[in-house]
Amino acid sequence: MRTIDWIDGAVVLVDQTRLPGEEVYLRLDTVAELVEAIQRLRVRGAPAIGVAGALGVALAAKQYADPAELAAAVHLLETARPTAVNLARGVRRVAALLPSFDAALGEALRIRDEEIASSKAMARLGADLVEKLCGADARLLTHCNTGGLATVVEGTALSVVFELYRRESLGGVIASETRPLLQGARLTTWELRRAGIAHRLAVDSAGPFLMARGEVDAVILGADRICANGDVVNKVGSYAHALGAKAAGIPFICVAPESTVDLSTPSGADVEIEDRGSAEVAGTTAPEGTEAINPAFDVTPAHLVTAIVTDERVFSGRADGAPAG
Ligand code: MRU
Repeated sequence: MRTIDWIDGAVVLVDQTRLPGEEVYLRLDTVAELVEAIQRLRVRGAPAIGVAGALGVALAAKQYADPAELAAAVHLLETARPTAVNLARGVRRVAALLPSFDAALGEALRIRDEEIASSKAMARLGADLVEKLCGADARLLTHCNTGGLATVVEGTALSVVFELYRRESLGGVIASETRPLLQGARLTTWELRRAGIAHRLAVDSAGPFLMARGEVDAVILGADRICANGDVVNKVGSYAHALGAKAAGIPFICVAPESTVDLSTPSGADVEIEDRGSAEVAGTTAPEGTEAINPAFDVTPAHLVTAIVTDERVFSGRADGAPAG
């Protein structure tokens, strides 16, 4: 199963807002439909929205002959969500080949295929690292959803979990719920169950305590943007897990493709953190009229990150290779 693909002249994706209850595939023929799908998180996860944006530009080339309309469609795709660098990067890479539809589609499919290849490389490098740092049978805690649903197949951090399972070297997995949209509770558990991997679910705030109690050997999660100085921008709650890992003396490992590394962003302070508004947090539980603050992502400073695994390298500290200081 591919989370997103180009089939018979349209973008086809699994609607992640309907999981785990229903597995529904949407066929999207217009840029407006695709932008809505990205903003509503029907498709989500940094590499997956990078592929969505790239395929969206091909869709735009098919839909619009007028250069001004085409440029407006590209702008809508590029700015649909601000934090994951993959989206704008995927859109720009394909838009450089406009107005040729054939060239745009060819490049978008290359981006899709690169992400598929990246997942395989990260699985191998990440599993080698976990075995090196924690030995066999590591008990891992992961946050948000970093599986095939967040990429095209297999995933980033979750691809490492799948690989350790294949190696019979996985001691356990705890999925952190991921308030408020519950990507961990709804999607990571769904993927682990499909793979036949035993797992448990924990509320986000239990993470640091479980680490302190010695029930976790390493935290492993993904990224939406890795900055030049090695700061990791990822789903809100990641920073709390990093503080917990530091206090417990266990590794905090980030797994993300090179397409998520953004050397043009100096540090996490330079990243626009998407705020998804009050309703997602206060909507069903708080008294009517309660205002919420809802940053969808946070920044884990580089000094709390034990290692970053990409499809090409494993490193700690700066992503750009410059001396720390
Ligand atoms: O808001 P989302 O669900 O798109 O956020 C996704 C994440 O934060 C993931 O952890 C991140 O994209 C890395 S997964 C490949």
